[in-house]
Amino acid sequence: MYTQGLNQAVEDGGPEDAELLARFQAKIDREEKIEPNDWMPEAYRQTLIRQISQHAHSEIVGMLPEGNWLTRAPSLRRKAILLAKVQDEGGHGLYLYAAAETLGISRAEMVDRLLEGRARYSSIFNYPTITWADIGAVGWLVDGAAIMNQIPLCRCSYGPYARAMIRICKEESFHQRQGYEAMSRLAEGTAAQKRMAQDALDRWWWPSLMMFGPSDADSPHTGRSMRWKIKRFTNDELRQKFVDATVPQARLIGLEPPDPELRHDEESGHWRFGKIDWTEFNEVLAGNGPCNRERMAARRKAHAEGAWVREAATAHAGKKRSRMAMAAAAE
Ligand SMILES: [Fe+2]
Ligand SMILES: [Fe+2]
Repeated sequence: MYTQGLNQAVEDGGPEDAELLARFQAKIDREEKIEPNDWMPEAYRQTLIRQISQHAHSEIVGMLPEGNWLTRAPSLRRKAILLAKVQDEGGHGLYLYAAAETLGISRAEMVDRLLEGRARYSSIFNYPTITWADIGAVGWLVDGAAIMNQIPLCRCSYGPYARAMIRICKEESFHQRQGYEAMSRLAEGTAAQKRMAQDALDRWWWPSLMMFGPSDADSPHTGRSMRWKIKRFTNDELRQKFVDATVPQARLIGLEPPDPELRHDEESGHWRFGKIDWTEFNEVLAGNGPCNRERMAARRKAHAEGAWVREAATAHAGKKRSRMAMAAAAE
């Protein structure tokens, strides 16, 4: 999940809410959770709806590039791991839709917004998974970047989101480790396997850094999200944490991130990296990434093919209700 969607303005409540607003902020400052029935400013509610639904959509769309390799995993072990991971992502989507529903929006509405192109998902899933090494790179880098973003969300001020994130983070950490393990095996394999691993790192490195969203200077609403403790770190802080953690991991297995400007700054202890190509990020965001159309087409197809399941579930629930009503009337 990342925060690119937070850059649209949502208006604060009017001055009549000043006292409620002060009480709300005091509660957050005391590190108490805001629960669904508590009063909250409309902008807080809308920010969370946008962020949580975007996160949920990312989990669901994120199943597509990896699902692409389920039938071609190189061994039964790898296949079982990948299957478990893809299923976890589906589960994450479900917890997150449920958490967003506590803010007064239905899952059907969120899905409609996605399918009509009114809601976003993480741009990273608009890149293709060309070789098996891409599956390793996605776990290691994409899930790795997601963890950096998500660990602080376990302390998010909104209770249902924070609680959903605790379980999600445990599973994401398994995803990151399986990806890194798959990459290390390739990196210590034949020359061709090592080349394949390096090529996957070359293609996924920059898009992973972009997952943290625009630079702080271009994120005007970060301050408010930090004050509300929805966010605990800025985009640039999280990106730096990710680079600091990942560069040594790459080098340990003999791979090198594709950045000639990468250097260790002894004084600060940080890895300094080159400029991010935000033009590419904005292009992918605008729908012109390599797989944007394919991903949305796959989601629309799955939604249409699942229509009979939704109808059957509704009919079953209706039948159950009328049977219960008849039984109650007969008593
Ligand atoms: Fe996930
Ligand atoms: Fe994951």
